[in-house]
Amino acid sequence: MKYCKDFIVVENETITPTLFILKLQYLETLPEIKAGQFVEIMVKGEANVFLRRPISIHDVDKDRNQISLLIQIVGKGTEELSKLKKGESLNLIFPLGNGFTIIGKKVLLVGGGCGAAPLLYLARVLKQNQIKSDILIGCRDIKQLFSKKEYESLSNLHIATEDGSCGIKGLVTSHPILDEDFDSIYCCGPTPMMKAISKLAKERNIPCYVSLEHKMACGFGVCLCCVVDTNQGNKRTCTTGPIFLSSELKDF
Ligand SMILES: Cc1cc2nc3c(=O)[nH]c(=O)nc-3n(C[C@H](O)[C@H](O)[C@H](O)COP(=O)(O)OP(=O)(O)OC[C@H]3O[C@@H](n4cnc5c(N)ncnc54)[C@H](O)[C@@H]3O)c2cc1C
Ligand code: FES
Repeated sequence: MKYCKDFIVVENETITPTLFILKLQYLETLPEIKAGQFVEIMVKGEANVFLRRPISIHDVDKDRNQISLLIQIVGKGTEELSKLKKGESLNLIFPLGNGFTIIGKKVLLVGGGCGAAPLLYLARVLKQNQIKSDILIGCRDIKQLFSKKEYESLSNLHIATEDGSCGIKGLVTSHPILDEDFDSIYCCGPTPMMKAISKLAKERNIPCYVSLEHKMACGFGVCLCCVVDTNQGNKRTCTTGPIFLSSELKDF
């Protein structure tokens, strides 16, 4: 079931000049939301932003009926969203997409930059299900690191920064946690990083799920602008995905 409803902004937290977290209050009881699902946001006040913008659900607080979104400013739509103030309303279509399928009892989450957005809620769901998780986050420097305390409370956190300001120096692909054995891997972030992690997972026969951020218009299966080439032919990223087993994707 999909909903098209208003949420109220309860907090707009600036992480860096181009990264912010919106905490949003739902005025009814939140429906079930799977980790890895996303929302389509109507951006008001910007005539050039006609289509809704797809954003992953970063976290869910069921007790308070709140969700949070981690957003990077890349253009007009996200810039407009960054100006939202406490008390303002925002219209969302939600929850969209398939969400993660959880396999096994020892899992690794790998995230790069703001693409890691869906992993916080995934780590929360894994902990609620008594599944042991390690999370590896890669970013440019310590200033780009977000939700560190929350990750630490839910999972074993490992960090790689390009300048070595936190965790190991280098890319996530060079982190020693990748030498350990896992039942499954969940990866979100830049495509080259997801391809590198999927390759490594394939070599070790570990199922690897990736979250695709294809361009989307409708977000619920009618415009066909988000198709991706899979082993079973073209699939819509917004409905069959955005989470895919990497071995199903032609490009991976
Ligand atoms: C399922 C899904 C989940 C996403 N989750 C998040 C999230 O949690 N946080 C977040 O910050 N962003 C996320 N994105 C990307 C986000 O939707 C785009 O950055 C946003 O729509 C850009 O809107 P804009 O008006 O600011 O920029 P535009 O003016 O539309 O574009 C500015 C630049 O961003 C690029 N861009 C536009 N749309 C996308 C897209 N879908 N993917 C990649 N690049 C794009 C354009 O090519 C252009 O270079 C997600 C995308 C998808 C499909
Ligand atoms: S975004 Fe319209 S079909 Fe996927």
